[in-house]
Amino acid sequence: DKKITIAIDGFSSTGKSTLAKQLAKHLGYIYVDTGAMYRAVTLYAMQHDFISDTQFDKKALIDKLPKISLQFLFNPDLGYAEIFLNEKNVETEIRTLEVSNFVSRIAEISEVRAKLVEQQQNMGKNKGIVMDGRDIGTVVFTDAELKLFMTASPETRAQRRYEELIQKGQDVTYEEVLKNVQERDYIDTHREDSPLVKADDAIEIDNSHLSIQEQFDKVLGLVNTVA
Ligand code: C5P
Repeated sequence: DKKITIAIDGFSSTGKSTLAKQLAKHLGYIYVDTGAMYRAVTLYAMQHDFISDTQFDKKALIDKLPKISLQFLFNPDLGYAEIFLNEKNVETEIRTLEVSNFVSRIAEISEVRAKLVEQQQNMGKNKGIVMDGRDIGTVVFTDAELKLFMTASPETRAQRRYEELIQKGQDVTYEEVLKNVQERDYIDTHREDSPLVKADDAIEIDNSHLSIQEQFDKVLGLVNTVA
């Protein structure tokens, strides 16, 4: 079979990464979580006090962009790559609600997007890659052989994310998580640069009523039609 590029886009907490990891493992492909990259830049901005409750120093962040290095290193115990920000593993730190609450503001900045998109395109040069995010099929890999657009109701998504955060021991309420999911949906679909939108040639998958296994089987069927 020839190696292809699989682009997975969709709203927050639609299970994109679960599906992407399954596919990458099954096909022996690289998996890249682009949300982790935007989250890591957000963490950097928080650590350097560019973000406070009342203010956000966008210019300071843009000036520092050349100093931000992001890397993915495969962790054989987990079976997927973890993200490193300036040589430090930040996989856990980027998943907090604080980061989630600010990430869409960082992702609106064109300079940030240009830097991350370039790195993403380099990672996919040789195909054999599954990448998930918001603009993969529309901007990063417009010629991907398979494009998926994932949806589910906001309540379903918030419930899933809430359970995930509680399981990780984080102190959050369902209402907070639902609010965050809805706010990010709004900002991500309304921003000027690379808004979240289904590519014309993407296949929509509403997984509100699909189990993880059913979804995987369905998508594997699609992969086999193009690979
Ligand atoms: O996928 P995840 O929910 O971790 O992404 C976090 C945020 O990063 C999104 O809500 C969005 O604002 C931003 N993002 C983006 N483009 C991508 C991936 C993520 O703007 N390709």
